[in-house]
Amino acid sequence: MKTLLMTACAAAALLLASGAGAAQMVDHYTLDHDGVRMEITAPRGDIIRVRAGKGALPEDASWAVNADIKRTLFEVSDAGPVAEISNNKLTVRVDKATLAVTVLDKAGHVVLADAPGQALGFENGGFRVRKAMPEDEHYFGLGDKTGPLDRRGGAFTNWNSDTFGYGVATDPIYKSIPFVLGVDESGHSFGLFMDNTWRSFFDMGKSERNAFVFGAEGGPVDYYIMTGDGPKDIVEDYAYLTGKAPLTPEWVLGFQQSHWGYLTQGEVKGIGDHLRADKLPADVVYMDIDYQDRDRPFTVDSKAFPDLAGLVSGLKAENLHLVLITDLHVAYAPNQGYAPYDSGAAQNLFVRKADGSTFVGPVWPGDAVFPDFSRPKARDWWGQQYKTFVGMGVYGFWNDMNEPSVFNTRSKTMPLDNLHRIEEPGFAPRDATHAEMHNVFGMLNTRATYEGVRKLAPDTRPFVLTRATYAGGQRYAATWTGDNTSSWAHLRLSTSQLVNLGLSGFAYAGDDIGGFAGEQPSADLLTKWIEVGAFNPIFRDHYQKGKEPQEPWVSGPEHENIRRHYIEERYRLLPYIYSLAEENSRTGLPIMRPVFLEYPKAVANDGVADQFMLGPNLLIAPAPNGESPAAYDVTLPGEGWTDYWTGEKVKAAFRETPKLERLPVFVRPGAILAKQPLVQSTMETPKGALELHVYPGPDCTAQLYFDDGTSFAYTRGVFLRQTVSCRVENGTLHVALSDREGSYKPWWTGISLVVHGWSGKGATLNGGALKADVAGNALVVGLPDLAKASDIVVAGQ
Ligand code: GLC
Repeated sequence: MKTLLMTACAAAALLLASGAGAAQMVDHYTLDHDGVRMEITAPRGDIIRVRAGKGALPEDASWAVNADIKRTLFEVSDAGPVAEISNNKLTVRVDKATLAVTVLDKAGHVVLADAPGQALGFENGGFRVRKAMPEDEHYFGLGDKTGPLDRRGGAFTNWNSDTFGYGVATDPIYKSIPFVLGVDESGHSFGLFMDNTWRSFFDMGKSERNAFVFGAEGGPVDYYIMTGDGPKDIVEDYAYLTGKAPLTPEWVLGFQQSHWGYLTQGEVKGIGDHLRADKLPADVVYMDIDYQDRDRPFTVDSKAFPDLAGLVSGLKAENLHLVLITDLHVAYAPNQGYAPYDSGAAQNLFVRKADGSTFVGPVWPGDAVFPDFSRPKARDWWGQQYKTFVGMGVYGFWNDMNEPSVFNTRSKTMPLDNLHRIEEPGFAPRDATHAEMHNVFGMLNTRATYEGVRKLAPDTRPFVLTRATYAGGQRYAATWTGDNTSSWAHLRLSTSQLVNLGLSGFAYAGDDIGGFAGEQPSADLLTKWIEVGAFNPIFRDHYQKGKEPQEPWVSGPEHENIRRHYIEERYRLLPYIYSLAEENSRTGLPIMRPVFLEYPKAVANDGVADQFMLGPNLLIAPAPNGESPAAYDVTLPGEGWTDYWTGEKVKAAFRETPKLERLPVFVRPGAILAKQPLVQSTMETPKGALELHVYPGPDCTAQLYFDDGTSFAYTRGVFLRQTVSCRVENGTLHVALSDREGSYKPWWTGISLVVHGWSGKGATLNGGALKADVAGNALVVGLPDLAKASDIVVAGQ
């Protein structure tokens, strides 16, 4: 065993005391043991980073972590066999004889400890790290992975894979987000993010009952441990490290219709016309690969789509946006006048084989080449390919097949010894193998798209949808869960996938409503899926070529009416949903949430795994087995909740009998929900009053947020922000509005205050009486628009 060496960078070290074992303030702590060098740093007081390597530390570079994050100072005392590192948030103990790391909070509670035995091991060019698994801890995150919501007991591989028609337990699928959130039954939480793009794994207690093990086939030992008071803190820490999603264009939150197999311009326009004729609110129609000439990205089949610009403006006239697929595989078509190939080849911008020649592999267009997205030059070039489409007024693009998928190979992707060029600030300029770049390739594809479209239209918010991605990819794109199947089991799976994606940074996530692959969905399945989808962040109906139509109108008027009802409710709720999107852009908190994010102790309750929350206020409790007529238990996180649809108070635990037309949705006591009059599109200005639905109770405060929904004017102050709060005092309800911030002019001239579960005797504003009417279980109070701080007093019953 070697002796320990501590290197504290003299320049950064501020010596508090001198002499052996004295405490020092440093911004990193390094130790060597048995040929392994380990370094601990703290990117923020509540986050520590551990890096290690054989003989030397690995390259200090990342595709995921924000480059501007600095190291903070901490105190080290390293006199004894255990070095102790501490700041005002946490303490880290490192056993010098084993390099085992234990993180404690300031109360002395162990946040995360290495497992007994060998904590860190290197073998075959890779490594593994073992952490202790307390019995009452539950684990979440890891992106879109299948299986139960709680990852405990599962083992998962990170390797972006094209998995058409995947099953409810298939692993790996499309994304690699090596982030785990741990929550124990008292609500203590930690986060662990392994920043490594190689093929990697998380074994969450499957091989070893009391340890979770993670590691990779190559690349750096480089992981972060996040600490905080509860799961929300951890999610915010992760967003601090890997970034937040930019505020979405509002139209992305509307209903989206898509299909692989809309074969002509007339058919696409017909979808828009049908949505409008049937009064199904909608914002987006997608075009899949069928619009292209021979499946070649950035071309248009001019026979089937003779006037794309006309189609864009025709849909726009119906308040619909068009989203175009633009896959990354550029057709290998030398000397055919295909500009993306010619211009990319002329500048050598494609991924190379090990011998240096351009790699060619078959995908939709047949033989194709693959842009080398780790080069800024290739990303810029890629971004310019969008010029014609953006010029037509298209701002939404779909990056598919970017695992990358390669046909006719056993691996379904390119050879691992293919070469990518890294020319990224922070990294040494070098060639990297596909084995290193595979998992980050899709994310770099979306980065090129997002940055390119932004450059082409600097004041319009772009929308990029991706299938593959890596940690941090939320900065560039929304995602969906790929080629799911039309089955009740997949509808159920979608909840755990979308919740875990939200915890893994991807607030904007959706699934193919109705199911992409497989048998035709039954009318009941499609209806239920639309009901649930109305409360998911991305709400997109999409299905495979060759299936019978799956649009909302296909199963006759009875089903269409139910589906319309849910789509309409989505549109009424948009002010609330959009304010969640805005909150996400500031904090990283997801739009769709597990119940335990709001109520950490609920993590102990198995029954909540099929439930989810939309923001902090709505709890959705779909039947776990959608096809079964059997009643099921619903457990809410406390007393005082209200049935969203009936306005009646419900008990904390009860049985729900499934009904086709009912998706159980409950409102938290203390909720304030902003709603708007029905519109058919987010591009339509609502007519009437802004509705503020108040459910008196504790923690009653909400933020209204509005802006134009499409431009970046909000970054220049053109937004509207206002806090609304409520409190009950001696049986009287007080609703307070703050002064309004920002210069965005609201569309409403009056506010309708709806107080639920309240039949009181009238209301006043600054002493003046207001019009108040009882409607069902609520009291509806008419208010003028209130831009200044105001207090409304609603008399008790
Ligand atoms: C992939 C996508 C699917 C798309 C199809 C054709 O299977 O996952 O959504 O429709 O390719 O582009």
